Amino acid sequence: MKVLMVCLGNICRSPLAEGILKEKLSRSDSVHEVDSAGTAAYHVGEPPDGRSQKIAKKYGIDISGQRARRFTRADFDQFDRIYAMDRSNLEDILALARDSRDISKVDLILNAACPGEDRQVPDPYYGGSDGFEKVFQLLKTSCEVIANDIAGLQQAHNKKA
Ligand code: 4NP
Repeated sequence: MKVLMVCLGNICRSPLAEGILKEKLSRSDSVHEVDSAGTAAYHVGEPPDGRSQKIAKKYGIDISGQRARRFTRADFDQFDRIYAMDRSNLEDILALARDSRDISKVDLILNAACPGEDRQVPDPYYGGSDGFEKVFQLLKTSCEVIANDIAGLQQAHNKKA
């Protein structure tokens, strides 16, 4: 399974989502790919925001090696699932979709934990460090559901094979 996490700058929220899901899938027998991108180009090439790195480290996850990149239409071909952090990201991603197959890959990440509620991961960029703790906890809850879902799909696939 190939999963892409998307926010605005790719330095605060989606790098955390990438790091958390990678950590949750690290004990899986199968190879999965997790990446992240931003809908805007402001921070391309930069490492994650220091506050995101710090909160990840607090929970034993190292995201310091990540570098920001911009979401492109080609990502629809590269990834099976594309998770947006908020509705604005979602709209920007969908604006690049070519067909219903592209559209079907995209959802708000918090819908994994709270289906149909269309909750958003708040942008913590202009706030304090408590915002990053909240973002981490929200993402952790959804990444657990996503990782379990992927593990279940993998089991079903292995049974068939
Ligand atoms: P992110 O947060 O989308 O979670 O990476 C932001 C990062 C940078 C900016 C806004 C949000 N910015 O305006 O530069």
